[in-house]
Amino acid sequence: MPIRSATPDDAAAIAAIYNDAIANTTAVMWHDPKPVSLWRERLTGRPPGHPALVALDDAGAVIGFTTLGPYDTLCGYDDVAEWSLYVTEEARGRGVGRLLAEAVIEAGRSAGLYSVVSRVTAGNAASQKLHDRLGFRRVGVFEKIGHKFGRRHDVIVYQLIL
Ligand SMILES: CC(C)(COP(=O)(O)OP(=O)(O)OC[C@H]1O[C@@H](n2cnc3c(N)ncnc32)[C@H](O)[C@@H]1OP(=O)(O)O)[C@@H](O)C(=O)NCCC(=O)NCCS
Repeated sequence: MPIRSATPDDAAAIAAIYNDAIANTTAVMWHDPKPVSLWRERLTGRPPGHPALVALDDAGAVIGFTTLGPYDTLCGYDDVAEWSLYVTEEARGRGVGRLLAEAVIEAGRSAGLYSVVSRVTAGNAASQKLHDRLGFRRVGVFEKIGHKFGRRHDVIVYQLIL
């Protein structure tokens, strides 16, 4: 399956996948959709330590994306990145997430990152499995820290040392 760097021209496809996750899952704690223009901005001029990758199907359509983004603006954290990963509902469970994950972690390692951190809403079995498989350590749980769909949610914090 082809995986390549995302470009600003992928903004619409990425926004569609992200907005579907916003509307239908607790994976992301936004409640409202985000505009394509925001993704266009986010995909412009990313440094090597903040890669954005897309996975494509046989027809060249984007079926998943992953990013490493800033963990914190304080300079002492500038070699730490926060990880995000989203796959279209139709393509889930076929190894797309794992391939994207391995590729983006390798890109982060090549760029000299020290560590990748990630937050996973409790109950997201696929994401938890993936983190375990990739060697992330479960650092702890923020109890009931998020709210969505009329409920509060625990969020698990993971860390991978590169
Ligand atoms: C989480 C997500 C990115 C995983 O991507 P995916 O392509 O479905 O995952 P893969 O097919 O590569 O599977 C990864 C691992 O999870 C397991 N898995 C997949 N779906 C699962 C499920 N529903 N329940 C339990 N385990 C599952 C797979 O067996 C695999 O483990 P293995 O390597 O031991 O076989 C995808 O389900 C998704 O986009 N979900 C909605 C958004 C989201 O939750 N993003 C993550 C935010 S932290």
